[in-house]
Amino acid sequence: MLVLGIETTCDETACSVVRDGEEILSNIIASQSHEAYGGVYPEMAARQHVDLIIPVVKQAMEGIDKVDLIAVAKGPGLIGPLLIGLNAAKALSLGWEIPFVGVNHVEAHLYAAMMKAPKIFPALGVVASGGHTFLVKIRDVGHYEVVGTTVDDAVGEAFDKVATLLGLPYPGGPHIEKLAKRGNPERFLFRAGRIKGRPYDFSFSGLKTNVLYQVKGQNGNRKSEALISEEEKADVAASFQETALSDVARKAKKAALEWECRALYVGGGVSQNQRLRELLEGDVPVFFPSKGLCLDNAAMIAGLGYQVYRGQGDPLDLEPQTRIPLSSMRG
Ligand code: KG4
Ligand code: ZN
Repeated sequence: MLVLGIETTCDETACSVVRDGEEILSNIIASQSHEAYGGVYPEMAARQHVDLIIPVVKQAMEGIDKVDLIAVAKGPGLIGPLLIGLNAAKALSLGWEIPFVGVNHVEAHLYAAMMKAPKIFPALGVVASGGHTFLVKIRDVGHYEVVGTTVDDAVGEAFDKVATLLGLPYPGGPHIEKLAKRGNPERFLFRAGRIKGRPYDFSFSGLKTNVLYQVKGQNGNRKSEALISEEEKADVAASFQETALSDVARKAKKAALEWECRALYVGGGVSQNQRLRELLEGDVPVFFPSKGLCLDNAAMIAGLGYQVYRGQGDPLDLEPQTRIPLSSMRG
């Protein structure tokens, strides 16, 4: 079964064709540049999706006559961008006379780690991206129990904000990782948040404030001048990265032990980070998305679409969902 995936939740216009949920035949990603704005500008992102969606679909379909199903990210994400992807999926579904299914973008990040990997359950799933940070117990593909989530920022968002404080470009995660290689992770004592009675939840907003004060002085604000040297910036990057990623890895490993998980599957943009990969190594095998599947992409959407399709597509009045509660991933 060939599935065409469409991903437009944020600033990537992506399209991919995947066979039987595993074999990627094409994986096209057109990334927009929002670097000049230090973040994604939603209205502009939506307009760029309009321009890019048809060329990207055409490119993904090159050399492929027809597909059997369309899978589209229905959310969570930005409303304008989501509407473009969903309407493209509906139009293609009508034109090609094939069904379409809407899938959850964050569940697809998790599936990216399971794609082409042995499926060893029960497992612990970790999603660490720019918009989401959570842990789930995986009983099977599509069957999850949420164990913990962030009460404020996502871990990738914390990387992006700290990068801005250090004067690095957006998105900041890869720049922090690079700078951290030259720094001393023990130089500054930063702390990730703890939530009373909720050992698997995350909080990164206090950590971000630790960094702010270290860089711009006690009670400094985001617009103040940085007061530290270039060398100290590398130490800040290293200390921040170590604190944030150790927190994710420690909670994930503890949860895996508690629920007797036999494997770990880790997805989302932050799963590209080599230090996170090292920190997660332990007693059970750890699976990460293969190259090109950590960041937003449509192969994970097509793959998950194949897994959730039960012979019946979604109705044409399916609405995008800017937020989807994690509890809806229970199954
Ligand atoms: O999964 P993704 O493409 O988008 C969301 O659905 O959010 O993740 C993007 C996030 C950004 O916050 C980016 O800074 C972060 O992933 N990221 C990283 C690295 N590469 C990307 N964070 C830490 N280290 C990296 N190497
Ligand atoms: Zn994403």
